[in-house]
Amino acid sequence: MTSPSLRELTVLERCIKEAERMHPPLIMLMRKILRDFDVGGYVAPAGGLAMVSPALSHRLPEVFADPDRYDPDRFGPGRQEDRKHRHALIGFGGGHHRCIGSTFAYQQIKVIWSVLLQRFELTLVDTDARPDYTTFVVGPRRPCRVRYRRRASGRCA
Ligand code: HEM
Repeated sequence: MTSPSLRELTVLERCIKEAERMHPPLIMLMRKILRDFDVGGYVAPAGGLAMVSPALSHRLPEVFADPDRYDPDRFGPGRQEDRKHRHALIGFGGGHHRCIGSTFAYQQIKVIWSVLLQRFELTLVDTDARPDYTTFVVGPRRPCRVRYRRRASGRCA
């Protein structure tokens, strides 16, 4: 699997982006405030913490239409809801300290999922899985079981 062939997996990429939007693993990004600054008429005082939550901002209906619906095509041609605002999608942060590993992470996730989907049929057993906020990096609350069956041909239909 080469880097150019991974770029062609645009549907899978949209699905990964939608997972990033709905279930960002880091739900709170923080900065210490070094100087007072103005935010829409309010003063954020030095010494405090400024926080932004990808989990919350990814669900803003003014940015993402029908935000609680899994809809990977919102990132497809003609819609591109993540491009409406510079910081609409912030699962990998934004600005100066945006994740330097995001391209690598997307490549890895694409490789893992394309191999899994080629070789196995997957069915979610616990369909009501919710986020587990007790961990620093948020994942699904357990049980979150997946049934798998090896594909006869080893390939997707
Ligand atoms: C799914 C995988 C990943 C997620 C969700 C993720 C998420 C993030 C987020 C949200 C930030 C910003 C933190 C903040 O603003 O406080 C960040 C920063 C960072 N990430 Fe990632 N990351 C991932 C994978 C990786 C990988 C694979 C690498 C390295 C190969 C990496 C290296 C870094 C580094 C060095 C920073 C700090 C950048 C800076 O402060 O300038 N990350 N990551």
